[in-house]
Amino acid sequence: MAPQPSPLLVRFEKHLPQSGLALDVACGYGQNTLYMAQRGLISTGFDLSMKALAAGREAAARSNLTVSFVQVDLTRFSLPRNTFSVVICFKYRDPQLYPTLRATLRPGGLLVYETYTIEHLKYGRKPLNPAHLLGRNELRDAFGDWEIIFYHEAWTGRGVASLVARKPFSAAGS
Ligand SMILES: C[S@@+](CC[C@H](N)C(=O)[O-])C[C@H]1O[C@@H](n2cnc3c(N)ncnc32)[C@H](O)[C@@H]1O
Repeated sequence: MAPQPSPLLVRFEKHLPQSGLALDVACGYGQNTLYMAQRGLISTGFDLSMKALAAGREAAARSNLTVSFVQVDLTRFSLPRNTFSVVICFKYRDPQLYPTLRATLRPGGLLVYETYTIEHLKYGRKPLNPAHLLGRNELRDAFGDWEIIFYHEAWTGRGVASLVARKPFSAAGS
């Protein structure tokens, strides 16, 4: 079965703009990239895996959607400043990415970020590499000077942090 869009993204759908550029960082099979394209956003998904990107392209073709799936190594790339109206990232952690994500969102743009935390280790399920797990309050610390629409950490039964935040209009490029 094709992966479904993230419940967090669906829940906060009303906060998505109806037009503009959207970026899905570490998009995997692209179910969230497609979800944004279905809502009128010009959507791009970045991932390292050619296999995942190919699956995303096939799903886009089946749905008759125009989506760019681009092979990018997120440990070595750059993005233009103040460009995207939406940036999303699910199940991928790299704190060195935060300044880039902050800068590439347009003022007023929306960030939706959700991934596993260090708490997840106690459930004995992947991911198990601590380097891939958020520290406590890591996302809130990285984006806490923005307008926090939603933040939740330590869901029952899984260690996950979820953030929906808006870049303030006063924060161009920061
Ligand atoms: C757990 S999957 C999450 C995929 C998708 N965001 C989702 O929620 O279904 C993590 C993704 O990160 C990608 N990834 C890992 N390291 C990467 C890197 N250095 N650059 C780009 N993508 C990377 C993997 O290929 C994989 O598709």
